[in-house]
Amino acid sequence: MADLTRFGISMDERLLSRFDELISSKGYVNRSEAIRDLIRNALVEDRWARDDEEIVGTVTLVYDHHTRDLGDKLIERQHTHHQAIVSTLHVHLDAHHCLEVLVVKGTAGKVRQLADELIGTRGVKHGKLVTTSTGQDLA
Ligand code: NI
Repeated sequence: MADLTRFGISMDERLLSRFDELISSKGYVNRSEAIRDLIRNALVEDRWARDDEEIVGTVTLVYDHHTRDLGDKLIERQHTHHQAIVSTLHVHLDAHHCLEVLVVKGTAGKVRQLADELIGTRGVKHGKLVTTSTGQDLA
């Protein structure tokens, strides 16, 4: 890491103690890395909040493929937004359920619209958009 800057943070002792418990339970060995991760997360979230920012993420869907027309609708919607989909993984969980994971890339606005359309399709039992970063601009 180049150009490290040290800075002090003043905070309520009880708040810091709770933070220490939290980061210890998550396996952080020190506060610095935990605080760096919080800052990175805030920066990634800020990018996602701006519609024209280039971002990457994943959309996870769980559905029953016996639901009428559901498979066709999901495929149709994915083809409509094919430019935002890098790759898809389909797992047949049991006789009924499918798990699908899409790696998505594009402007935040378009990716969010695609995720909303897929997750909102009738018959999708659970869906989640996980927002992450291309890694650029994050030290
Ligand atoms: Ni399947």
